[in-house]
Amino acid sequence: MESGGPEARLGSGLPGLDTMLDGGFNRGRVILVLGEPGIGKTIICSQYLFYGAAKGEGSMFIGMNEPKSRFMKEMLALGMDFAKLEGEGKFKYIDATDVRKIPEQTRIGRIAVGGRELGLVNLLETIQDEIAKFEPVRIAVDSMSDLVFRFPSVEDRRPVVLDLIETLQSSSATSLLTSELLSTGEERVLQPEEYLAEGVLLMRTLRKGIRTIQILKMRGSRVDTHPRPYNIGAKGLEVLATEEVY
Ligand SMILES: Nc1ncnc2c1ncn2[C@@H]1O[C@H](COP(=O)(O)OP(=O)(O)O)[C@@H](O)[C@H]1O
Ligand SMILES: [Mg+2]
Repeated sequence: MESGGPEARLGSGLPGLDTMLDGGFNRGRVILVLGEPGIGKTIICSQYLFYGAAKGEGSMFIGMNEPKSRFMKEMLALGMDFAKLEGEGKFKYIDATDVRKIPEQTRIGRIAVGGRELGLVNLLETIQDEIAKFEPVRIAVDSMSDLVFRFPSVEDRRPVVLDLIETLQSSSATSLLTSELLSTGEERVLQPEEYLAEGVLLMRTLRKGIRTIQILKMRGSRVDTHPRPYNIGAKGLEVLATEEVY
């Protein structure tokens, strides 16, 4: 599946998506996976990591949405035994669910400081430390929305997203970053992370309830930009790369 030389492309773990991507993700990039809740963002991240880890590539999941136990259990039901890969030292789960519990304000000694900013700095430092220790080839951060919900305005949100993306870019890994789609339809509002990420995959339900994935942007690649349908079954998510959606 990997064209352009093994150095250039990294298989996504989803054969149909690799077809759309012309071989896989460009190495070292940060790719945004944007979509409605329940659409399959976490599953895409898991397949991406599982596929790599099973081949011996260190893979790291930074989970802000669910504790490790729940993640492991849900992915096992889809045929992905992450516990085994963890035991082999190829997979690491970073539990970052604390970001959702950060108080609006906190104190250092007697001084009140912004809790959300402090929480963010701590998280970025943790991510940096864990990357330095584990040196992953693949990273997934799921979901950015759990981090930025305390920064509701676009002006406040932009630097937070930028810091997170720069942290991921400073490693040599190829990263997926998920985010919840805030608006749908033709005249939906573009989210700052769409400008800042180097690639964007959009997942959404079209008329008649058909779930589709579309490559909105992929810097440095010639890709299929049509929305393509996909199914989620016992073996995970399968993209039907040659099917049209009307
Ligand atoms: N074992 C399964 N069989 C079929 N579909 C499943 C299974 N597990 C999850 N799903 C589907 O996957 C969806 C959730 O995917 P997930 O990646 O958690 O979504 P997101 O992260 O975008 O919120 C559910 O809405 C369900 O349709
Ligand atoms: Mg999810």
